[in-house]
This record gives sequence, C-alpha cells and structure tokens, in this order.
Amino acid sequence: MQLFSIFATISLSKSEWYTGAYPEPGRTKLEPPDFSLLVTSYIDSGASTRVYSAMQVDRISSSIPKEVAIKCISTRIKHLQNKLGHEFMILKTLGSVSDLHVPKAYYVSEQWSCGGSHKCQFLVMTKSGPDFSRIVSRNTLGLPKAVTRGKPGRFELFAGSVGLGVIAELEKLHKAGAIHGDIGRYNVANDLHEPRQVMLIDFGQSKRRSDLGPNEFARRVERDYRRANAFILRLIKISLEPGGRFSDNPLFSILSRIENNQKDLKPLLSDFILREFGERFSGSIIY
Ligand SMILES: Nc1ncnc2c1ncn2[C@@H]1O[C@H](COP(=O)(O)OP(=O)(O)O)[C@@H](O)[C@H]1O
Ligand SMILES: [Mg+2]
Repeated sequence: MQLFSIFATISLSKSEWYTGAYPEPGRTKLEPPDFSLLVTSYIDSGASTRVYSAMQVDRISSSIPKEVAIKCISTRIKHLQNKLGHEFMILKTLGSVSDLHVPKAYYVSEQWSCGGSHKCQFLVMTKSGPDFSRIVSRNTLGLPKAVTRGKPGRFELFAGSVGLGVIAELEKLHKAGAIHGDIGRYNVANDLHEPRQVMLIDFGQSKRRSDLGPNEFARRVERDYRRANAFILRLIKISLEPGGRFSDNPLFSILSRIENNQKDLKPLLSDFILREFGERFSGSIIY
C-alpha cells in the first residue's frame, strides 16, 4: 500500500515536482492514495519550506476538509529530508489531545527524487488563519477594524487575550507531553473557522518528553514560555510605545519592569482583562 502511494504521487504530480521546483498554484495536482488536491494559492514561507492552500478535487475524501494547507520541502540538505515526517508524526500524536488547537495532520508523502539530487516531500494539514507576524511588526493592516488605536484600550485587550490564548495552548501541549520549540509571531495563528481562537502552527521543532528525558523536557517547557512571553510583550508594547497614545497605561510600566526577567505573564494578563472586560471574557480573542 505504502509502495503504491509513492508511485501514485510520482506518476501523477509530474512537472513542477520533477524539475525540483515548488508547486505552481492553479496547476500542480497532488495525489495521495485516498484523495486528490489542486494547489490553489501560495500562503507563506518558512526557512526551508513553503506553504500553500489546496482544495480537494476529483477523488474527494470525507475525512479531510475541502480546503487544506500543504507544507512543502524541496531541498538538497540531508538533515532536512525527513523534517515533514517528524512534524507529521508529532501532529498525529497531538490529534487526540482534547481541546488543543493545532493543525490536524492528514498525510505526509514519502521523499522522492523530483529532479537532480533533490528530495521533495509534502505534508497535508488543517489550514489555519493568518499568523501574527504582520501585526507584531507594527503593521496594523489586516487587523479587524475594531482593533485600532482609535479605540482606547482595545488593542491591549486584543493583545492580552491573544497572549492568554497562547499560554492556554502551551499549557495543554506541555501537559500532553510535548514542547513546541519555536514559539514566535510566525508560528502563532488563529483558527480559520473560529477567528477568536488561537492556534499554534509549525511543529517542525517540536519534541516529545520521551525524546528528551524529564530534565531537558522541563528546560524546553521554560523556553517555550520565555519565547511566548517575548511575543506577547512585543504585541502589547505595539500599543504602548513611549510617547504614544497609551504610554500612561498602567500596563506599560509593569510590562517594562518584568520584561527582562521574564516573569509569568498569565496572572498579570488575567487581572488586566478581568478589570477591563469583566465577566464577559470567555477565553477567546477580544476584537
Ligand atoms: N497549517 C497552516 N495553515 C495556513 N498557513 C500556514 C500553516 N502552517 C504554516 N503556515 C504559514 O506558512 C508559514 C511557514 O510555515 P511554517 O510551518 O512556520 O514553516 P517553517 O517550519 O519553515 O518555519 C507560517 O509562518 C504561516 O504563515
Ligand atoms: Mg515557522
């Protein structure tokens, strides 16, 4: 069966993959054993990968969504050659963790020669909403209209609730025995179908407790939180720049004091949101 799937993928996805290039939206078709995908648009790139949107066509499987994300690697670099296999395996094990918001993994292709000495591989998974990189780079383009500097306090509430969402997902992830390993603005997104829900993406650096042993696992858990704190602080500071409109906000001095020694942000964020938003806060992103 596995052998068949390799053949099917090679013989039907032709052109782009054979030349070692990446998929071409509108043209490239991928043929896992149980369904067919047409690559529809380019989403974004990581250090060594590219991510595309794809739709099911022709052979439709009811066990995967109509629209999915595919992450592709086309590389000569040996140590990256089974990167997506590792990510697939981690996402598969996390698929059974209740209420954890990470992509579901549906399929990973074998590596095969797609031209010259290249190896290619693709991973099919749940498509997320946009990641937070654009917002955090001080560009409010793409933010929902309600989240603007014109509405005092709104951006902090937005940032604070995103922060609590990230911490909540990390707590569930760590409890399930895995670390993320690469928390940051490119790897935190929202759920495409539930835009108030934070989703962690990119499990390329993720490890399980059993891979690391208890001491190293604990050290990496701490590191996930340090990186999450840095991301959240940066997000909040966008609306609290000195001289900016909100520089007299009480959060500003507290945040800059704790920033360097990376204290636990969760109680601070919870208090702040409770004070400003009260009982109405349900744990989801406040727009
Ligand atoms: N499941 C997904 N759905 C939609 N977009 C995604 C998904 N996974 C990744 N992306 C987008 O593609 C970018 C690169 O993917 P990522 O998994 O982070 O690759 P890398 O491991 O190379 O960093 C992400 O920053 C994000 O914008
Ligand atoms: Mg990434």
